[in-house]
Amino acid sequence: MCHDCVAGGPSGASRRSFTRFLAAGAGLTVLAACTPEAPAGVPPSSSSAAPAVTSQVPSPVAAPSVESTTAAVEPPPQAPVPPSATLPRQFSLTDPASPWLVVNKHRPLSPADYVPADLVHPNVRLAVSGEAALLNSTTAVAAEAMFAAAAHDGVSITLASGYRSYGTQVATYNGYVATRGQADADTASARPGYSEHQSGWSFDIGDGGGACGFQPCFADQPAAVWAKANGHRFGFVVRYPWMFHPITGYYYEPWHLRYLGVEAATDMAARGISTAEEYFGVDAAPAYA
Ligand code: DAL
Ligand code: ZN
Repeated sequence: MCHDCVAGGPSGASRRSFTRFLAAGAGLTVLAACTPEAPAGVPPSSSSAAPAVTSQVPSPVAAPSVESTTAAVEPPPQAPVPPSATLPRQFSLTDPASPWLVVNKHRPLSPADYVPADLVHPNVRLAVSGEAALLNSTTAVAAEAMFAAAAHDGVSITLASGYRSYGTQVATYNGYVATRGQADADTASARPGYSEHQSGWSFDIGDGGGACGFQPCFADQPAAVWAKANGHRFGFVVRYPWMFHPITGYYYEPWHLRYLGVEAATDMAARGISTAEEYFGVDAAPAYA
């Protein structure tokens, strides 16, 4: 059942490297953490060139030094516990049909033109139509439960951008490049074959009223606040969190949710682990190789 699974989770070394990476990048991320606005005339991650679809896109701990005088009386150093080792199930990190798929600037989808075999229309409040209203079947069921729970709490959440085909991502990314240049585009939009949206495991949310849609201020809207606090109960994480773009490669996207499964998402929340890269012990991916 598990091929190419996480094999032990974050090592001590990888934790240290992430910590150093964050420290080194903190100055930059203070400046960069605001999500840029979509290119003029192009909703973040969408494009008028997309054919016949309505697609909205917004586009460790240091190893303890063992002193000879204390080694015999103190317990041996404990290896960091891989977060996933506590979970009852393990999944592939590379199979695009796996809920633990890790896609980032170092880890493209394979095949690049992958299309989920189980795309469905979730029964949720939509702010989009066409392919962007689709999710893979597992994500759809979880989204339905989450949106219903939010509504029960008096919070309106809409599906603002779901599945995005390779071809749509070509148009979306090219739209960003045309209006902002490639360097800036690469901080907000994935290159074709590198977007979680193409996997069906991710979607963007709105609040139904358009408040701060795909804008940094969306983080303070009830939909985003609720999703950040409760998403893990339904298997979701905010995939591109504030201040972690040196690891994820993207600016803060409080609207972009990713299904990892209830166990993993809840484990991440309980342990205070913010990114899939850290959780699964894979390299940070601030830029394309
Ligand atoms: N905005 C995210 C990174 C995407 O394009 O998939
Ligand atoms: Zn997104």
